[in-house]
Amino acid sequence: MGNTSKHQLLILGGGLIGLSIAYELSRKGHNVEVLSKKRGEAAGFVAAGMLAPHAEGLKSDLLNLAKLSLLEIPNWIKTIEANSGISCGLIKSGIIVPFLNKENMCKYPTSKFGKKLSNIELKNEIPDIGSKWKSGLLFPEDGQIDNRRQLMRALEKACVESGVHFQEGVKVLKIISTKDRFEGVLIKNAEGAVTTIKAEHGVLCCGAWSKQLLPYLPIYPVKGQMFSIQGPKDYLKRILFGPGIYMVPREDGLIIVGATSEKEAVFKTGLTPSGQRQLQEGMNALLPSTKSWPHMERWWGFRPATPDENPILGKSPIKGLFLASGHYRNGVLLAAITAQLITKLVSQEKLSNKEKDLLLKFNWDRF
Ligand code: GLY
Repeated sequence: MGNTSKHQLLILGGGLIGLSIAYELSRKGHNVEVLSKKRGEAAGFVAAGMLAPHAEGLKSDLLNLAKLSLLEIPNWIKTIEANSGISCGLIKSGIIVPFLNKENMCKYPTSKFGKKLSNIELKNEIPDIGSKWKSGLLFPEDGQIDNRRQLMRALEKACVESGVHFQEGVKVLKIISTKDRFEGVLIKNAEGAVTTIKAEHGVLCCGAWSKQLLPYLPIYPVKGQMFSIQGPKDYLKRILFGPGIYMVPREDGLIIVGATSEKEAVFKTGLTPSGQRQLQEGMNALLPSTKSWPHMERWWGFRPATPDENPILGKSPIKGLFLASGHYRNGVLLAAITAQLITKLVSQEKLSNKEKDLLLKFNWDRF
């Protein structure tokens, strides 16, 4: 470990990425404080929790980063579960991407990683799949974590157990720096008092809100609406990932159905009838048998997107301030590798050449 340990380190953002980094850093001996505005807004509570580098059809550097994270996840989850005593619902369920025809299947960016399913094989896997789906790709390595009900709670508990401090209801008003050196933040706390918190290091992980603190970060919100339905346990064993609609079956039979992708909504909160109808119609076409199953919950949130849909990771132009944001559709999948890379950077640990190369690809100044 470098000479930065034991000095106060601020994590700006108490979402999944912020918590993951806070947890990793505090386990390395850092004195970590998480500043969180409104934990319920975090994309980590909204996402479906898919671990889907292949099903999402990721390409090049992002695919490499995502695959690395997928490898890290089992151990990462094991540690969180051990420290928190809360299970995270990690299941290597596999994901099936159905297609209307074989041509589309072969053109899929990650098709070489999948097992091709003929029409009969697709029906064997998902007997009730809609009749328009003719073939499929099965990605057995992909899976899921129960982020909304389990992982977020487990991570918070694991953070507390390992000594992370939290301030909830805090709005970070400004990053304070002198001669491009990070010195802390100006905040408005839950009681409305404006104060300064000094620190030598900070990590900015404010998701869709990151640009409000550093206007040169090209991160914007893409709203997603979702709902869940309750089915019988084990009715759907694998995740179904159709175009514009996916169904993620949890162990207890709850199925998460997502998601709209609404760039034009910007930060407009709330459900919309058209968004909910789009999901319902997509689900009816994907798996008609679930049409009238009881709805359990409906929610929305904001994905942090960037122009190339890749995250922004690594150093910032302000010395001592690091960036971990813009994870767009893949926050749950990338949380483990993000925490690992950022922790190494902050701790001044030696990075492998592969890690250095990866960080270069996701640097903020590529835009
Ligand atoms: N990862 C799926 C989504 O963002 O909707």
